[in-house]
Amino acid sequence: MAGTKTFTMIKPDAVEGGHIGAILAKINEAGFRIEAMQMTQLSRKDAEAFYAIHKERPFFGELVEYMTSGPIVAAILEKDNAVADFRTLIGATNPEEAAEGTIRKLYAKSIAANAIHGSDSDENAQIEGNFFFATRERY
Ligand code: RTP
Ligand code: MG
Repeated sequence: MAGTKTFTMIKPDAVEGGHIGAILAKINEAGFRIEAMQMTQLSRKDAEAFYAIHKERPFFGELVEYMTSGPIVAAILEKDNAVADFRTLIGATNPEEAAEGTIRKLYAKSIAANAIHGSDSDENAQIEGNFFFATRERY
């Protein structure tokens, strides 16, 4: 059965562009409840650890550089079928290929600066949520 939680980050380009409020409104309108949220800036060590799965990819250096370039908003979201429904809401990785009305179509600048992250599996949603929010037990 599909899980009920996913993890997201509003990325530096979207924070810098003043889109936090509009993006959170779309997330709420799509039926997601915000379970935890934090605005912070990733260190190089944080970004390298968070994206360790991509470390052999050619864009890894650019990705770490970009994700540490300014503040981000990290959040755990709750909804039925959360992972898949959230990836539909954010749209394709490359905004040129993202469907009309998706968050990336509306706010992403490029495949690298693509406005928002969404977990790609229930397992990664848990790992990524814990990366930011595991300091206290949640009930
Ligand atoms: P995300 O993890 O951020 O939700 O994005 P995604 O699943 O759609 O894409 P993924 O393949 O996991 O890539 C992670 C992030 O790396 C950057 N990227 N840059 N320059 C490039 O060709 C390239 N490809 C990917 C993007 O910021 C992407 O979201
Ligand atoms: Mg991904």
